[in-house]
Amino acid sequence: MSKLALHGDLLDFESTPGWGDPALHGVRWRPDHWLLIEDGRIAGALPGREPPGEDWRREEHSGRLLMPGFIDTHVHCPQLDVIASWSPGLLHWLDTYTFPAEQRFADPEVAAAGAAMFLDALLAHGTTSAVVFPTVHAASAEALFAAACARGMRLVAGKVLMDRGAPPALTDDVAGAERDCEALIARWHGQGRNAYALTVRFAITSTPGQLAMAGRLLARHEGLYLQTHVAENRDEVAEVARLFPEARSYLDVYHRHGLLGPRSVLAHGIWLDDEDRRLLADTGAQIAFCPTSNLFLGSGLFDWQAAVDHGHKVSIATDVGGGTSLSMQRTLAEAYKVQAMRGTRLTAWCALHAATRGAAEALGLGAEIGHFDVGATADVVAWDWAHGAAALHRDAVARGAVATLPAQDLHARVFAWMTLADERNVAAAWVAGVPRFERGRMLQNVDI
Ligand code: GUN
Ligand code: ZN
Repeated sequence: MSKLALHGDLLDFESTPGWGDPALHGVRWRPDHWLLIEDGRIAGALPGREPPGEDWRREEHSGRLLMPGFIDTHVHCPQLDVIASWSPGLLHWLDTYTFPAEQRFADPEVAAAGAAMFLDALLAHGTTSAVVFPTVHAASAEALFAAACARGMRLVAGKVLMDRGAPPALTDDVAGAERDCEALIARWHGQGRNAYALTVRFAITSTPGQLAMAGRLLARHEGLYLQTHVAENRDEVAEVARLFPEARSYLDVYHRHGLLGPRSVLAHGIWLDDEDRRLLADTGAQIAFCPTSNLFLGSGLFDWQAAVDHGHKVSIATDVGGGTSLSMQRTLAEAYKVQAMRGTRLTAWCALHAATRGAAEALGLGAEIGHFDVGATADVVAWDWAHGAAALHRDAVARGAVATLPAQDLHARVFAWMTLADERNVAAAWVAGVPRFERGRMLQNVDI
């Protein structure tokens, strides 16, 4: 039996924090504790510095935050090649940068190298689980699943479905795509910590026949996910209305094809109406809010308050390469600003919950990831509270280390951390209790 004890300030969530409420409701704050990990699972926590017994391997992270690894619910593996590309908007950006970049993943060697680099980058940013788009090529999904297995990571992914509206090198057809999906599901769904997602790129690039095929597969196999994009950009919405005149709305295109359910993850959801929001709530589908992408591509400002009012699920995602960073803190900081522009103020608790336990529960993975409940898989990240002169000063102010200023409450300190931190703050990351990243280097093939 392997026993690992990590010492630091433990922060996670027991339940959902109150919307707009910086009080500690739902927050589990255990400063100066040992986090106990047995055989890759959380076994408990012990207060104080007194080390647990001799049989525990101990690691000191005193003065650091220990949190569950972040969960990025929408991100594109091949798009690290095109992150930060100038563009007037989504459709131009796809045609000019994204589709050419994705064609390179037809080569299994490029796909394997891309998957390894991408997953290592996620870990180096403190993200231990993700819902990921590879490309249309079955080999790109294979590469991603294999790389996730090699790192023990929890991944939801699937080959992209596109049978129109994209370059010929990036399109499949209904029968071939169905065969590829069946083979990938048989090989990877439930293998390691992988789950398969039917991956409809968006309504513009799938025929009604392909959407129907995806709906059939979703109904046929237990526990499959569905990932796609919805209502991101106004030109896109207009094109979907032209292609699917019979549908009430963009979201309704997916509903008509049986694609909405509790394991459906739809990125963006900016240009929705209240009937769409009710449909999301009724079906249990979630919106992955992608603030850095929405700002970068000028797509619009997601209305989280309306989602709360209608009771549909929201998680947070980077959407790299439309998004401009794999850092979940940078993403949460932009989420705060987007909501501020809409007249609401996101608390650090709601933001961090959405990136950990909230995302896990939205994905139906609440028993496994996103928190430090006993029995959860020990995906853990150690974070420095501050990096760089301004953040160090701001953190000193928050904890009352600047003599002339009063100490601030925990929400103020964590909010400043969330707003100022990024991947430079990651000290170490463990996946299922195995150390996988230490500042400056990946730790591959390390077993404990
Ligand atoms: N809509 C369809 N494909 C994409 C993509 O790759 N990125 C974003 N942001 N939106 C999309
Ligand atoms: Zn996307």
